[in-house]
Amino acid sequence: MRLSTFETLELVNFEIIMELSEHTKNILGLQLPTDPRWVDLASISLEEILTDHAYCEQKAATTCITLIQRYSDKEKLVFELAPIVTEEWGHFRLVLQELRKRNLTLGKQRKDVYVNKLIEFQAKGGHLEDRMLDQLLTMALIEARSCERFKRLSEGLNDEYMRNFYRRFMESEAGHYTLFIDLAETYVEKEKVRKRWQEWLAYETDVMNSMEVRGDRIH
Ligand SMILES: [Fe+2]
Ligand SMILES: [Fe+2]
Repeated sequence: MRLSTFETLELVNFEIIMELSEHTKNILGLQLPTDPRWVDLASISLEEILTDHAYCEQKAATTCITLIQRYSDKEKLVFELAPIVTEEWGHFRLVLQELRKRNLTLGKQRKDVYVNKLIEFQAKGGHLEDRMLDQLLTMALIEARSCERFKRLSEGLNDEYMRNFYRRFMESEAGHYTLFIDLAETYVEKEKVRKRWQEWLAYETDVMNSMEVRGDRIH
C-alpha cells in the first residue's frame, strides 16, 4: 500500500517521538490550557483561522530554513530540520487547498502578536549558545502551543471533516516540539535547557494571560 505524504510524515514523527528520552517528554508541558471559549469563536471564523494557520505553517518552514543557515556547522540540526522544512511547507499547501475549496485566497499576513511577544523574550546579545538555545526553545513553544490548539479544534469543532483535518496537524506538531527540545539538548547542557525551558513556560503563561481570546487566530 502506498502511503500519502501526510501518512509517511506521521510515521516519521512517530519514530522521532519514540526515540526521545523520557526526560525530554517530561520537561514539556504548557502551564495554561487554552480558554475553552476559543474553539467556539474559532468555529465561527474558520476561514480566518485557515488564513492565519496557512501563515503559521509558512513561517515554521522559513524559520527552519533560517536556523539551518544560521547554524550550518551543526550537522544534526541541519539534517533534522531539513525534512521539517518540507513537512511544514506540505502543511502550508494543505491549508492552501482548504482555502481554495472555499473559493478563498490566501489574503494578507496578519500581525502575529503571540510570536512577536515570544521573540521579545529571546536573548539578543551574549553567548551564541544562549541565543541558539532561545531560538530553539521559541520554536518548541510555538509547536507545543500549536499542537494544543489543533487538539482543541480536533475535539471541539462540529464538522467531522475539519476535526480530522486538525487531528493530523496535531499529531505532526507533537513530533516537532519534542524535536526542538531534543536539538537544544544536543548542543546545550541538559540542566541548562531544562532551567531555561521552565522560564519560557512561565513567560508564555504571562503572554497567554495578556492576550485577548480571539477566534480568528491560531495563537
Ligand atoms: Fe506544521
Ligand atoms: Fe511544526
